[in-house]
Amino acid sequence: MTDSYAVIGNPVAHSKSPQIHAAFATQTSQDIIYKAIFCEVGAFAVAVAQFREGGGKGMNVTLPFKHEASQLANWRSVRAQSAGAANTLTFDAQGITADNTDGVGLVRDITENLRVSLRGKSILLMGAGGASYGVAGPLLEEAPRALVVANRTVSKATALVKHVAPNAARCVLSASSYAALKERSEGFDVVINATSAGLSGGMPELADGLFAAGALAYDMVYGGVTPFMAFAQAQGAPGVHIADGLGMLVEQAAESFYIWRRVRPHTAPVIALLRRASQ
Ligand code: ATR
Repeated sequence: MTDSYAVIGNPVAHSKSPQIHAAFATQTSQDIIYKAIFCEVGAFAVAVAQFREGGGKGMNVTLPFKHEASQLANWRSVRAQSAGAANTLTFDAQGITADNTDGVGLVRDITENLRVSLRGKSILLMGAGGASYGVAGPLLEEAPRALVVANRTVSKATALVKHVAPNAARCVLSASSYAALKERSEGFDVVINATSAGLSGGMPELADGLFAAGALAYDMVYGGVTPFMAFAQAQGAPGVHIADGLGMLVEQAAESFYIWRRVRPHTAPVIALLRRASQ
């Protein structure tokens, strides 16, 4: 029997998840269907219940429902607890399990696809909203030397630092404004843009000298050169790598697929497929 999955969000029409999961299913010979469901704000729990009662086996959850998804579940993985949000729900006769695959998706894209180790590195994470909460814990698990969370509203960066501090181990963890980054004498090895500024054509106000030689500049947004990617390019630090979030998108989907099907798809051909389609 064909198992049914969906991504639920508002908006959701732009979602690439149906295409990604269809590609995974073909590649691994899994008999599934995967559709996109638009949901009005306030109707999330009802929409999930309807899908589940109709035989649905699991859902990906996108904005603005990730927090609600975590709340709705009967059980939450450590990753969902650390993120305070869920992007993957799994249904069975006992109830709903919530997980969050965004952080592992980012880490796999950086460490496996881009082949940049995070161990011992200094990382700047920009933004302190849901996207940063999703990835901060998994980034710390890679044992970086330092993690600075910078945000326009510094109190939110401080709150995120406090939230993940128990997982920091030997990593030096701190919160910062963008202006205070100008005082630093050294560049960062990895700079990750997890703000939503790029969606409206903007970026945080960044000073020169942010990137160490050979640094990785990573924008979690995908679909063309973002203002942050253009800024990183223009800085001209030697050997800087610049990446958008397309690989993260496919990797987080692969982890959801694995949770549901216990089969790990190859992500490289699917990333290449989406890259070709977006050009
Ligand atoms: P999400 O949960 O999707 O991450 P959010 O909670 O609204 O969304 O967070 C968006 C993040 O992008 C925040 O860190 C926000 O900074 P503030 O907390 O100061 O609002 C950041 N952001 C959005 N637009 C920005 C801009 N133009 N410059 C800098 N940061 C921006």
